[in-house]
Amino acid sequence: MATATTKTKTNVGLEPAATEAIAQALNGYLADLHVLYTKLHNFHWNVEGEAFYTLHEVLEGLYDAVHAELDDVAERVLKIGHRPLASLADYMKNASLHEEPSRAYKGTELVEILLKDYQHLTHSLRETINLAGEHGDEGTADDAVGMLKDKEKAIWMLTAYLG
Ligand SMILES: [Fe+2]
Repeated sequence: MATATTKTKTNVGLEPAATEAIAQALNGYLADLHVLYTKLHNFHWNVEGEAFYTLHEVLEGLYDAVHAELDDVAERVLKIGHRPLASLADYMKNASLHEEPSRAYKGTELVEILLKDYQHLTHSLRETINLAGEHGDEGTADDAVGMLKDKEKAIWMLTAYLG
């Protein structure tokens, strides 16, 4: 069960019941981004083998992108009048992605794990786009479409890496 959000004074004219549902969806996505951010660092540090130099750099690009995106998601929650989750404890409680242990990873193994995570995030984003669309929240839908397109690009590249 997603953590209920706290409302703020900000009112951009959306139905309160709709913003609660949309904010919960965004907070769940925000929680997943934090797990992904940590996991990308894990793999950046622990990748071993022939793919080291390539993936070490690629993973840095991916976690930098996630870092920028999680700020956009949190600020979208505020724009629709709710508070973003802002503690690691809340992220772990609300995330649907899972962490991985600190150990050596071969390139193919870590790319397969990330591919599943990125596919899961596209599924979440499409649900949020539909939810926002149903309630006239074009701003959230537009933000989420941009995020979805970034995930689709990552999925294409991760899939191509696997050959
Ligand atoms: Fe580094």
